[in-house]
Amino acid sequence: MPTQGSRIYPEVLGQLLEMMNERLKQLREDFDREIGLVTTETEATELRDRWVGRKSGLLTAEMKTLGKLTPEDRRLAGQGLNDLKTYVEAGIERLQLGFAAGREAEQLVRERIDVTLPGRRIATGHLHPITLLREKIEDIFVSMGYTIEDGPEIETDFYNFDALNIPSNHPARSWQDTFYLGDHLALRSQTSTVQIHAMQRRQPPLRVLAPGRVFRRDTPDATHNPMFYQVEGLLVDRGITLGDLKGTIQEFVHRMFGPETQTRFRPSYFPFVEPGAEIDYSCFKCNGTGCRVCKGSGWIEMGGSGMVHPNVLRTAGIDPEVFSGFAFGLGLDRLCALMYGLDDIRLLYENDVRFLEQFT
Ligand code: PHE
Repeated sequence: MPTQGSRIYPEVLGQLLEMMNERLKQLREDFDREIGLVTTETEATELRDRWVGRKSGLLTAEMKTLGKLTPEDRRLAGQGLNDLKTYVEAGIERLQLGFAAGREAEQLVRERIDVTLPGRRIATGHLHPITLLREKIEDIFVSMGYTIEDGPEIETDFYNFDALNIPSNHPARSWQDTFYLGDHLALRSQTSTVQIHAMQRRQPPLRVLAPGRVFRRDTPDATHNPMFYQVEGLLVDRGITLGDLKGTIQEFVHRMFGPETQTRFRPSYFPFVEPGAEIDYSCFKCNGTGCRVCKGSGWIEMGGSGMVHPNVLRTAGIDPEVFSGFAFGLGLDRLCALMYGLDDIRLLYENDVRFLEQFT
């Protein structure tokens, strides 16, 4: 017995091939019919397993029967079978490619991005109205050559009172006005304390703007809050006069509220200036004719000012015989309320986002 398989006589082989061709034709027709019925990917996989699956595939089984033949016969008989196998595999592959393309198209539709949809708004923060106002004021003074200075919110008696020429019996020292933190420490009740720090830090000529928080024992109401904001200004140089103060304030007010705005100085007393004056400016709303904003007077109070007291210069280490200067202090909260039409300054400290996000 030949080990490679049986040798078939040529005439027998001829018949065999004819039979096989018949069978192959039949198989091909069966396959064509079956593939025409496939509608899903799973069915395509099933079709593939049934026809060319490694274990139980129809054609795989047919192939195995060839094993019994000699290599030569096998080649002859196997030709048609191989062709059919290629045909079946190609058909199934085409089918699967079609399904894959369909899946991709479906995915494209499903994941389509509508670029014409309006974007989602990114929530950005807002600057606090006090900050906006402070920056506006800073910009004006910086453009006039001032530098922004800072000082501590907790101060010793020296900076809070002594250096500012506030006598020990002055009512401002009383516990009713000041938040004391101990015998000789208190929250500053005005930014004028920064005048002293600035003069100690640097020699004249000095142009300093010091915005910051101040604290007073006030009962909160529509126009009072125990913490509020001031902006302190200080200029020290040779030959500075009241005229320089007035001109500076006038310039500031023009830039802040418009060139038609008037200023007015009313004599007043502050221990650390001499002479001292309250500054008013003509109402930015009615231009001085009288309205709700200025309560009918045509004027709005801006803050205090004056020529730096010689005692203050001397205490801070500056010779009042050589130098003179002016100082002013503005409150930001009421100004902010007036400018934005707020009827209660406490709104500024409630941190209600719905309120805060209205200011830009
Ligand atoms: N510090 C004063 C106040 O709080 C204002 C002021 C500043 C007055 C500078 C004169 C000079 O009322």
